[in-house]
Amino acid sequence: MPTPSARFRPNAFIHGADYNPEQWRHVPGIWDADMALIKKAKLNGVTLGIFAWAELEPEEGVYHFEWMDEIMDRLHANGQRVILATPSGAKPNWMAANYPEICRVSEDGRREHQGHRHNHCVTSPVYRAKVHQLNTLLAQRYGQHPALLAWHVSNEYGGYCYCDLCKAAFRDWLKAKYVTLEALNNAWWSRFWSHTYTDWSQIDWLDDSIHGLRLDWKRFMTHQVASFIRNEVAPLRTHSPHIPVTANFMGGYDYYDYTTLAAEIDFISWDSYPTWHGQAGEQSPPWRVGLEPTFYHDQFRTMKPDEPMLLIETTPSQVNWNGLSPLKRPGMHRTSSLLGVSRGSQGVCYFQFRSSRGSSEKFHGTVVSHDGRDDTRVFRDVRDLGTLFEKLAPALGSLPRSQVAVLYDYPNSWALREMQSPAGSVVNHRETCLQHYTPLWQRGLSVDVPDQAADLSRYKLLIAPQLHLLLPGTAERLIAFVEDGGILVTTYLTGYVNETDLCFLGGFPGPLRELLGIRIEEMDALPAFRKVPVKATAANSVGLSGTWEARDICELIHAESAEVLATYDGEFYAGMPAVTRKKTGRGAAYHIAARLGGDFIETLTSAILREAGIAEPFGGLLPVGVTAQSRVSPDGTQWLFLMNFNETSATVDLGSDVWQNIETPGASCRHIELPAFGSFIFTHSPA
Ligand code: GAL
Repeated sequence: MPTPSARFRPNAFIHGADYNPEQWRHVPGIWDADMALIKKAKLNGVTLGIFAWAELEPEEGVYHFEWMDEIMDRLHANGQRVILATPSGAKPNWMAANYPEICRVSEDGRREHQGHRHNHCVTSPVYRAKVHQLNTLLAQRYGQHPALLAWHVSNEYGGYCYCDLCKAAFRDWLKAKYVTLEALNNAWWSRFWSHTYTDWSQIDWLDDSIHGLRLDWKRFMTHQVASFIRNEVAPLRTHSPHIPVTANFMGGYDYYDYTTLAAEIDFISWDSYPTWHGQAGEQSPPWRVGLEPTFYHDQFRTMKPDEPMLLIETTPSQVNWNGLSPLKRPGMHRTSSLLGVSRGSQGVCYFQFRSSRGSSEKFHGTVVSHDGRDDTRVFRDVRDLGTLFEKLAPALGSLPRSQVAVLYDYPNSWALREMQSPAGSVVNHRETCLQHYTPLWQRGLSVDVPDQAADLSRYKLLIAPQLHLLLPGTAERLIAFVEDGGILVTTYLTGYVNETDLCFLGGFPGPLRELLGIRIEEMDALPAFRKVPVKATAANSVGLSGTWEARDICELIHAESAEVLATYDGEFYAGMPAVTRKKTGRGAAYHIAARLGGDFIETLTSAILREAGIAEPFGGLLPVGVTAQSRVSPDGTQWLFLMNFNETSATVDLGSDVWQNIETPGASCRHIELPAFGSFIFTHSPA
């Protein structure tokens, strides 16, 4: 939890951009033009100095802050707040030359050349000292500046380093964790293939045959990055304890456990660069691209569920790194931005304000392109969003409130990826989570995405796809959740391994056996051409009816104390349970033993929402490709965001005139016609 004084509480929706004026120091007139254009684009914030180290410290110990002083003052006078970055994401050439140890070592043991970015060693004491020193100077100089809104540490922490310093630190971390090699050998099952360690120096982190080692390597790297962040943040907190700190996370990135890193910062921000236009030749429908970023918004918001977050990077136009990036279609910019706001973001920021003249991202979409004009389509889109944010001002500080959660846990996803099981190639954990998330998205329901250590008592319904790895205490917490009236849904691949990836003895789902009332005997992995029919049992207690097809994975399970809701209707396991339900206390736990398609998941979702007592805001499904989300202000005022991700228009029935469109108050809201990629915001206050 941030200290109350360092909470992120902007007094307006942040409409901002990465601003890199140091690139233009030698070009007369640009800074003046920037100030006018920033204002005209209705930007009220900028992220400054992300990659400015070489301009701040061009030689070791020689500092040039005067340009930043001027820019800070000019931005302040121009009406912008500054999110000031620490520049550790890209190290200067002189530093790499003077201190080779700060350059990362790749898997093959090669010290990487200087160049690119995000490639420092997070263990190097030299790099940590340099970062600490510069951050101290920045914090001393700007920590009390009236323009300063927040600190942004580094940029997109990422990757692993395999240098000797990291190796030594990994071994120390393991010694602290396991104390003896005997304990480590047991936890990793290293006697298999004669990998028993007799000396700590024998541990080789690249050995992907030892699953416990791989998990620990990722936990260690998370730990190292967390301590790197702590080192970055310490001087900022010392010299500006009232200023909140963030770090920009990446959707779908799982080299580290972001929930651990989240504890080091005051508020969450993330960078979202979806392909709004769909990819050429993509199989899935174009609207599907709206789904995945929503999941990440929810996941990041849930890391601090009561704190506002920020969509700190997106493009107002196209990216340049995606192979093929068609232009954003009219409406997409507003709708993709409002998607972030609807899920809890207190604004939208872009990478970057002005296009670089040269180098890697010179053709990345920006607010102001090489033509330097303000009469472009993109500029207008940006300015229009600024105008909309002004109208939305009363919604500031409101947040989504969720009763439903889809569980996503980093160590669990690491274990699933490396499990080397008969179903190895079709496990696809993220897609499985999205499959269960889709019917919730299509209902416009607010959803949280917690990990297994989160406070589950907030929810009425918890869907935990493929909860394969159970940390100590998770089973007990799930039991308590159900006993207290929660509805839990688990799927195939649940409850197989413990925290060091050792299989539970005595049968799967391990410590969840009693709660789910089942025993898993075998798991069939199906080639693409094979599908197994599944049918609902007659007169089951929840009224589940229908027939479906299982593909990819079918667990062969026994119902020990669970009710059987559906059985396989083919293969040698015909008649065995495919879907079960077991009541415990005031709640119930469902298990889906096979990968059943969207139709089944839709049917089940509708039943479990009913059982959990969760009202469907639109009485059922929204039109395909349309989603909605509401935010609630502390006084109970609701803000409803309706978004259409289709290339064609769609109609939604709000069913009541209590809603007011914030842009056209007074107009009827019964039948809303959303244009292609269109979005609207409605509000209504409690009676
Ligand atoms: C982000 C990065 C930015 C910029 C942007 C381009 O991942 O943080 O610095 O490179 O991508 O899309």
